Amino acid sequence: MIKIAVLVSGSGSNLQALIDANLSGKIVGVISNKPEAYALERAKKSNIQTAIIEHKQYPNREAFDDVMHQQLLAWDVDLVVLAGFMRILSEGFVQKWQGKMVNIHPSLLPHYKGMHTHQRVLNTGDILHGCTVHYVTAELDAGQALTQGIMQVNLHDTVPTLAERIHRLEHVIYPQAIEWICNGTIQHHENGQVLYKGQQLEKPIQFCQF
Ligand code: GRF
Repeated sequence: MIKIAVLVSGSGSNLQALIDANLSGKIVGVISNKPEAYALERAKKSNIQTAIIEHKQYPNREAFDDVMHQQLLAWDVDLVVLAGFMRILSEGFVQKWQGKMVNIHPSLLPHYKGMHTHQRVLNTGDILHGCTVHYVTAELDAGQALTQGIMQVNLHDTVPTLAERIHRLEHVIYPQAIEWICNGTIQHHENGQVLYKGQQLEKPIQFCQF
């Protein structure tokens, strides 16, 4: 059984969706860089062990990442799931977990990497928006995309309404992507190739909500 660690910084609604999904993998631990993150409460309620590793207590990114790496090794983790984890990870850390670490981003990647995606979608006047589950590589929000949730932007949408609907979509596509990794439907080979049902994954599996 795949052992999963979830890295969080905030509310943890994606963590909750993963807990509720009854994955065939097991969430063995939750790491937060913020002691006040509500995600920690969610983990405790589900009897999942937690670790608080505060980035502020370490002299640099590498030192912080190394403590996280040691914790992941101590939990014997196979898969690292970033769920609202608000720290950029060092290249060394990302390399150690290459092909074993995924993230969810609130845009239809490769569009709108980085922050403030809802506002940027509104500014551009896009009619479609969404979220993307992708493998983590050293380049920010640039690893291979696995699943995507797509939705329509309505005339009266605002940043909060988009954020709310994107969150709901995330809670569908993230557990699905993680389950596919857990049950072998998605496989990441050491040469970097990603397979879906044994075939090379050319583009993300898309879920549309209209
Ligand atoms: C999500 O919108 C996700 O796309 C982004 O951070 C947010 C985390 O929300 N990476 P939550 O803490 O899971 O509620």
